[in-house]
Parts: sequence; structure tokens; C-alpha cells
Amino acid sequence: MNKKTIWITGGSTGIGKALAIKFANEGWNVAISARRENLLDEIADNHENISPFPLDVTDKSKCKEVFEKIKNKFENIDICFFSTGTWNPKKERDIDVEQIEEVFKINFFGTLNAIKAVEEYFKKKKSGTITIVSSIAGYRGLPNSTGYGPSKSALNNLAESLYFDFKRSNVRVCLVSPGFIKTPMTDKNDFKMPFLKTTEYAAEKIYDGLVNKKTFEIHFPKSLTLVLKIFSFLPSKIYFALVTKMTKYQKKN
Ligand SMILES: NC(=O)c1ccc[n+]([C@@H]2O[C@H](COP(=O)([O-])OP(=O)(O)OC[C@H]3O[C@@H](n4cnc5c(N)ncnc54)[C@H](OP(=O)(O)O)[C@@H]3O)[C@@H](O)[C@H]2O)c1
Repeated sequence: MNKKTIWITGGSTGIGKALAIKFANEGWNVAISARRENLLDEIADNHENISPFPLDVTDKSKCKEVFEKIKNKFENIDICFFSTGTWNPKKERDIDVEQIEEVFKINFFGTLNAIKAVEEYFKKKKSGTITIVSSIAGYRGLPNSTGYGPSKSALNNLAESLYFDFKRSNVRVCLVSPGFIKTPMTDKNDFKMPFLKTTEYAAEKIYDGLVNKKTFEIHFPKSLTLVLKIFSFLPSKIYFALVTKMTKYQKKN
């Protein structure tokens, strides 16, 4: 039995929860964090390899405290998977500065707080993987995304920057860019989501990318992400025209 350990933030629902179950089923020790303790406990009660470590990632010192607790329990941590995120489509049309600050506080600074909490451990250990969950929404600007897209773009840039830094200590920095996955987050969307996939599908792709492959970015489903990658090389004029045309037909009904 594999006795490696992964720490997953955003583990109470959606992609993080499905990934926790996948790793637990593969025999890993799994530490899950999120704010809703009752959901974490329920997952842990149903899977013997999963342990709950409640955490609000916007609290810097709590991130450090919780990581200390995880280290004390498991001693060796192999992978960190930081997937906390928030998205409120109703507010993304406006330049609502308070809302955008809140999105950055969770999506960008929350992830940064978690990375900071594990930095010294991984740099000393000189092995392991730190995973940042971003989104296809971070590739280029999209309509009605004043907070979420920019926060994910910032994470993409951060991940590339940290890649160089951690590589010197033999630590892998990995970026995850999911397409549309059916979770409580995307259940709020009122538009048709192309190539929508399940959390189990996402968990399989992420597990394979983290454990069996060595690439910097894990992105899926390829039928969507590869097209968007081509879009990201297009001149702005063509990109804007294509996205305008495509999003015109995306409204439900
Ligand atoms: N679903 C998609 O189509 C999709 C596509 C691209 C990228 N993503 C990214 O994938 C990640 C997971 O999203 P999801 O779709 O699985 O959504 P989700 O089910 O809503 O999961 C979000 C997770 O983040 C946690 N969280 C939020 N704020 C937190 C905070 N301050 N401190 C600690 N935990 C916090 C939530 O738990 P609590 O509320 O219990 O704290 C929950 O576990 C996000 O980063 C999202 O941006 C999702």
C-alpha cells in the first residue's frame, strides 16, 4: 500500500472532494481543508484514509498552524493541492471593487497564504509537489469576469514565477487548468457550459497528471483547452471577434 500524503484545500466539495476520494482510494493519506467543518467530517467519516483539518485560507497564521498539525500527524507530505476558489457570476458583470477584493482574497491571496505555509518545509525537504488550481478563465480576458478571470490570470503568472524558484530546490510547481466541471460553483452559471465534465473525470485527470506525469500544467478536457490555448496566441482583434461571436450563442434557452 502506498503511504504517501497529500494536503488538499477546497476539499469540502467539488473538485477537491472528488480528488480527495480518488487519492484515498489509491491508498494515500489525505488531509482535507475548507471552512465547512461538517462537510469535512462527513467525508472523513466515510473514508478511512481522509482526515479533516478545517481552515479558512484567508487567515495567514491559521494556514501555518494547520500545516504544522498535518505535519505532526503524517510527518512526510508529498503533494499539496491548493484549490480553494470562489465565483459569483451575478456580480462579475460590474466593477464592484469590494467584490473583486473578496475574490482576490480567496482565489489569489488564499492560495498564496497556503503556499507560504509550506514553502520552508518543501525547500528544506528538496522534493514534493505544490499544485495551484487556476482555470481556463485565466488564459485571456473573458466577458463578465471582472474578478474571477483576473484572479486566475494572477495565479497563472504566480505559478510560472514560483516554478523557477522552487525548481532550484527540486520541488515541482504544478498548475491545474480545468475546463467546465459540474460542481456547486458552476451550478450557479446560467449559460450553457461546453464540454461540461464530472468531478470524477477531473479527479482522474488530476491524479494522472500529478502522479504519473511530470508536466507543469494539467489541463482538461483537451477538446476545450487546446482550442483556448490556440486562442491565446491570436492577435487581440481576432480573439475579441471570435469570443464575441461564441458567447452570443451561449445563453441558455
Ligand atoms: N468547476 C469548474 O468548472 C472549475 C473550472 C475551472 C477552475 N475551477 C477551480 O477549481 C477550484 C475548485 O472549484 P470547484 O468547482 O470544485 O468549486 P466548489 O465546489 O465551490 O469548491 C470550492 C472549495 O473552496 C473552498 N473554499 C472557498 N473559500 C474558502 C476559504 N476562504 N478557505 C478555505 N476554503 C475555501 C470551499 O469550501 P468551504 O466553503 O467549506 O470553505 C470548497 O471546498 C476553484 O479554485 C475553482 O476556481 C473550477
